[in-house]
Amino acid sequence: MKTRITELFGIEHPIIQGGMHYVGFAEMAAAVSQAGGLGIITGLTQGSPENLAKEIARCRQMTGKPFGVNLTFLPALTPPDYPGYIRAIIESGVKIVETAGNNPQKWLPALKEAGVRVIHKCTSVRHSLKAESIGCDAVSVDGFECGGHPGEDDVPNFILLPRAAEELKIPFVASGGMADGRSLVAALSLGAEGMNMGTRFMATKEAPIHDNVKQALVAASELDTRLVMRPLRNTERVLKNAAVDRLLEKEKELGAAIEFKDIVAEVGGVYPRIMKQGEMDAGAWSCGMVAGLIHDIPTVKELIDRTMREAEEIIGRRLARMAQVTLSTAAS
Ligand SMILES: Cc1cc2nc3c(=O)[nH]c(=O)nc-3n(C[C@H](O)[C@H](O)[C@H](O)COP(=O)(O)O)c2cc1C
Repeated sequence: MKTRITELFGIEHPIIQGGMHYVGFAEMAAAVSQAGGLGIITGLTQGSPENLAKEIARCRQMTGKPFGVNLTFLPALTPPDYPGYIRAIIESGVKIVETAGNNPQKWLPALKEAGVRVIHKCTSVRHSLKAESIGCDAVSVDGFECGGHPGEDDVPNFILLPRAAEELKIPFVASGGMADGRSLVAALSLGAEGMNMGTRFMATKEAPIHDNVKQALVAASELDTRLVMRPLRNTERVLKNAAVDRLLEKEKELGAAIEFKDIVAEVGGVYPRIMKQGEMDAGAWSCGMVAGLIHDIPTVKELIDRTMREAEEIIGRRLARMAQVTLSTAAS
């Protein structure tokens, strides 16, 4: 399939694996890129620019195809060494960066000069337009259903994507709630040029995370996610568990007075315990409503191949047949 996104990134299928903390290691990114999508290494998970450079080198040994690096700009008391990460990306020769969180404007000149294409993740039309105006090459439009940080506007993709299509000139992918060929065709119909998946890629054989996490995704339904940290205006969609229940109880009790330090036990540094040790109640971890559509743990290639097969079957047969009926009824 050819879209503006496959052309922009030099990939076979319009499918991107979004950056995921403690999931987006070289194994994940390489598996997606090898299967014809765009794999993304999560920069900050590496902990230092030096480690990121090593992870990029490791990924390169696993695939000769294009892959990218995610850089998430978070509000932090002591910010990560962003200049160092940008340098590591450029010096490693990576040509695609997925930015997320705060406005990436400050880093664009250096990236552009090095020929890096930038796709910025946005949860609103106004942020997408801003990304376009500062020179991003594409955006990933993240609807309210998404795993991770959906922003504070709560607009689901059935509205957000066509609104983005009405306003944007640069290409965009649909992100949040994407699982299969049906999602891809829907995304294309609504004006996107491809899709970005997070949660769905976690439930694959190659995802370098504990099997307990994969099993939890298969067991979960679309009703099992919760929004946390809304009072801090840092809303995150996570899978419900004992820690999330505790966190929500604290949010109820403390109301507007709540501070980050009150919930640090539930959200601070919990990812390694969950993703590596499989301690499923260790804390809150990002998960999309799309968990309700995850029923198996295929290889990444199986997932991508069947997604493309299904999308082509929907477009070429199901929709074509429906349009045919409409056309012949109109003619008679
Ligand atoms: C476990 C997990 C960790 C994530 N970590 C990050 C991150 O560090 N940076 C980022 O930009 N997005 C992160 N995301 C968001 C994904 O890149 C993607 O935008 C989102 O998962 C799309 O929604 P979906 O889960 O419904 O596919 C994370 C998502 C998940 C599920």
